[in-house]
Amino acid sequence: MPNKRVSIEKLQGMKRRSEKIVMLTTYDYPAARIAEEAGVDIAFVGDSLAMLVLGHSSTVPVTLDEMLVFMKAVSRGASAPLLLGDLPFGSYLQPSTAIESSGRIIKEGGMDAVKLEGGKDVAAVVRAIVGAGVPVMGHIGLTPQTSGAHGGFKVQGRRADQARRLVEDALALEEAGVFGVVLETIPVEVAASITERLTVPTIGIGSGIGCDGQVLVWHDMLGISGAYGRHVKQYATLAATMLEAVRAYGEDVRAKRFPDEDQTWHMAEEELELFAAVS
Ligand code: KIV
Repeated sequence: MPNKRVSIEKLQGMKRRSEKIVMLTTYDYPAARIAEEAGVDIAFVGDSLAMLVLGHSSTVPVTLDEMLVFMKAVSRGASAPLLLGDLPFGSYLQPSTAIESSGRIIKEGGMDAVKLEGGKDVAAVVRAIVGAGVPVMGHIGLTPQTSGAHGGFKVQGRRADQARRLVEDALALEEAGVFGVVLETIPVEVAASITERLTVPTIGIGSGIGCDGQVLVWHDMLGISGAYGRHVKQYATLAATMLEAVRAYGEDVRAKRFPDEDQTWHMAEEELELFAAVS
């Protein structure tokens, strides 16, 4: 019996009831299965995979075709969380391309909704995608796709005028029809104020406890990425565990301890005799 999918209505209800929403990036089938079993509400195929999985130095180079491979894998692994797919850089510059890219994420990637970065500047694009029947999540504050234009990977909205612009961006996104907004790396006071003003949920990353939900990146929270921002809480140190395991495997192979009898098959005696006769 497939699990009942988390709906956008359920997320809105969680905001109203002050129940926190759990969002986590997932990039592949095993991660999706684990996220589902752990009860994650939103499994998010973020373009952060460009850096964490593909080894790029920013999120900019990843293409929609590449993103779709990961979305398909995640959609095979999870049937309960809402599945959210990131629109990569350059795939939503115009309303028409945005509709086309979003359509591919839903139809080919098997996602339920898309996310894009930007505030007032993307309101027309959001309206077009929502008008085409695709739910959209917004993303303001630190927006990695355009971080170069905003002073790099640093806290956004520390000054009152910047904070006011963030509030205006959030309201413009809500007005355009988003079902939620990611608030990345902004002061807790600004995030809480935006959260109070919006009727749709806010999902924070590095933006304090006042948001309606939180998102973390898989490789960060599990201790695989190797470089952790202050916003990250590490729940495991898997890189160290993996390194230890791979080293132990190498040592076993070199010392001829692997494979041993437990991992070995034998022929039946009579087959062995026949084999010896023909070889
Ligand atoms: O791609 C991503 O992982 C993101 C999160 C930081 C929200 O956009």
